[in-house]
Amino acid sequence: MAKLGVNIDHVATLRQARQGTEPDPVWAAVEAELGGADLITVHLREDRRHIRDRDVELLRHTVAVPLNLEMAALDEMVTIALRIKPTMATLVPEKRAEVTTEGGLDVVANARTIAAAVGKLTDGGVNCSAFIDADPRQVHAAKQAGFTICELHTGPYALAAAGSAHDREFERVRAAGEEILNCGMQLNAGHGLNYTNVQSIARLPHLSELHIGHAIISRAVFTGLRDAVARMKMAISNAD
Ligand code: PXP
Repeated sequence: MAKLGVNIDHVATLRQARQGTEPDPVWAAVEAELGGADLITVHLREDRRHIRDRDVELLRHTVAVPLNLEMAALDEMVTIALRIKPTMATLVPEKRAEVTTEGGLDVVANARTIAAAVGKLTDGGVNCSAFIDADPRQVHAAKQAGFTICELHTGPYALAAAGSAHDREFERVRAAGEEILNCGMQLNAGHGLNYTNVQSIARLPHLSELHIGHAIISRAVFTGLRDAVARMKMAISNAD
């Protein structure tokens, strides 16, 4: 069964609504772990719109499961990651105006900058994952850049209406997943997944991790985070 990485950024987004101290993402990480989260993910954005440096520092000391830091391939973020040493750094594209991460990292177009960041992180003992679109060119560029893990962007699959568009997007993810494995990299997937659409993705052969945020935090508003995580784990295990 694929592991579940729980993205707790939205807890910090709620805190940001009052620019105060609650709810605390550090508490959220504890609840997510008690619900069965296999990893905790936070995205430290350049504009610090939700997760703050203090959160990442505290989470590094309090989270018992692996910590996945999403970040842009910027010198500032590489320096922070090398100091904090998360278990894994997922490199994502970042645009100030976007509501959430919109597309995959364009490793083809930014090969040199990205490879330099991956080199520094890897030398510092941080595993690097590339968040990429389901495109074989990006898979090969990620391999070239030194990544050992790829997270396939499942957003287009999640947004596609039922029918041929949905089947086409699923097939893209499946084929790119196969290419990642053929290149000897670890296969992860995430973005836009919820309690129903997760099952087809969870059935992908040799999938290691699913990274999910919005659906879990939305459910948690009504049921509590521990329960929302446990139910997502159940949805993933039912796919077996
Ligand atoms: N993976 C990556 C790289 C992301 O940037 C995000 C969103 O922050 C997710 C997974 C989770 O996406 P969602 O919140 O839609 O589940």
